[in-house]
Amino acid sequence: MFILAPITTTSNFDLPDDIAKLLVDPKTYSDRELLHSVYTWARANNPFGRAVIEGFDPFWVATKYADVSAISRDSSLFRNGDYSVVCRPKAAIDYIISVTGSPHIVKALVQFDGDEHKKMRALAQSWFMPDSLLNLDERIRRLARCCVDKLAHYEGEVIDFSRNIALYYPLHVIMDILGIPSEDEAKMLVLTQELFGGEDPELNRGKAEVASGKDVLAKNLLAVVEDFRHYFDKLTSDKRTSPRNDMATLLSNAVVNGEPISDANRLGYYIIIATAGHDTTSSSSAIAMWALSQFPDLLPRLQADAALIPQFVDEAVRFASPVSHFMRTASADTEIRGRTVHKGDWIMLCYGSANRDEDVFDKPFEFSIDRKEVHHLAFGTGPHICLGQHLAKMEMRILFEEMIPRLERVESAGELEMVASSFVGGPKHLPLRCFMR
Ligand code: HEM
Repeated sequence: MFILAPITTTSNFDLPDDIAKLLVDPKTYSDRELLHSVYTWARANNPFGRAVIEGFDPFWVATKYADVSAISRDSSLFRNGDYSVVCRPKAAIDYIISVTGSPHIVKALVQFDGDEHKKMRALAQSWFMPDSLLNLDERIRRLARCCVDKLAHYEGEVIDFSRNIALYYPLHVIMDILGIPSEDEAKMLVLTQELFGGEDPELNRGKAEVASGKDVLAKNLLAVVEDFRHYFDKLTSDKRTSPRNDMATLLSNAVVNGEPISDANRLGYYIIIATAGHDTTSSSSAIAMWALSQFPDLLPRLQADAALIPQFVDEAVRFASPVSHFMRTASADTEIRGRTVHKGDWIMLCYGSANRDEDVFDKPFEFSIDRKEVHHLAFGTGPHICLGQHLAKMEMRILFEEMIPRLERVESAGELEMVASSFVGGPKHLPLRCFMR
């Protein structure tokens, strides 16, 4: 593993400058070896340290499984709505406040707390529970078969699995659930990439480095939100005149406490469902394929025993941990690892680090489908645990149930390239050569 240059610890609780800066640098996240050496250092030397970085509000960094889990579960002490749930430069947050009146570019489920969160979450929750998802099995399986057929079409050729296959399958599924016509899927994909890849010059709006002007990031993100608003306002009026059995119809007519939900809350809901649902799942599916290309013993094991596929999927999600962090804000003074966290302090939950915690996972850097011990935290935990976790796992399971029996072997055909994003990211390019049976 890559070892960082000599590190000088400070006498207080602060993380060394180089570690702290690497944690907010999007480029770190495109180099997983570097990222994990930062996390590993922090877990071993300062597992709950403070990052004090010019241009950012100071924040605590939780890198141990136990802390990420405990903070996530105590949602009254560690709140989501009080400050940004994404770690962004102060200039970006200030700009967002000046435009929206709040630190959030949009108010979605991840920005609600307490009872309001419970009620908003309940609106869509039943759609994403395992029993309701059973109704989607055949539809999802059809989409999965199309993906495998596409892969077979390129048999023996170099294919960028991330761009050509993984991106589209979860996108089709979530757009189908939302009730978005297939001709609009490409638009939704671009907007999602611009939202999550805001720091990556290959994906963001303007296709440029944003480091030089931090409020450029906020301006770009707000412009993306405006495009979503424009699209979803029209969709809402269409669904009100022609209701269907889809989530957009549900959101168009949603009522909480006897009142229709506000336009702003509806927009936030649409955006989180339309974006969180596919980027993360396609990243995890790409990591699963990458694993098949790296560890040739995996494919025959999965072919011999399809019951191992759910474990394979779960390990791919742990390994990928496509959501790198969410932030929480302390609502009162408290103590973590002997350090006083003051009311209003900002805390980064590092899911990717928690999922490599040596105290919890045996050989955490190994891709192993034999893990039985613990729940990983890639979906978070506590009241905000991923609403789409069952859907994501089901989509991946069905994809690999369809794909595994047809594959002869998967070969790497180039470098795995990761998105440069400190928030949500995963494989940007995964060149593979697949051979079918
Ligand atoms: C492998 C795929 C996925 C991963 C790794 C993932 C990860 C996460 C994480 C880490 C959170 C925050 C949890 C917390 O704060 O404790 C979250 C929240 C959320 N996810 Fe996912 N997600 C995935 C797929 C999906 C899918 C398919 C949907 C479909 C709609 C979805 C919808 C949501 C929503 C709505 C929330 C907000 C929940 C709330 O705040 O109550 N996600 N997800």
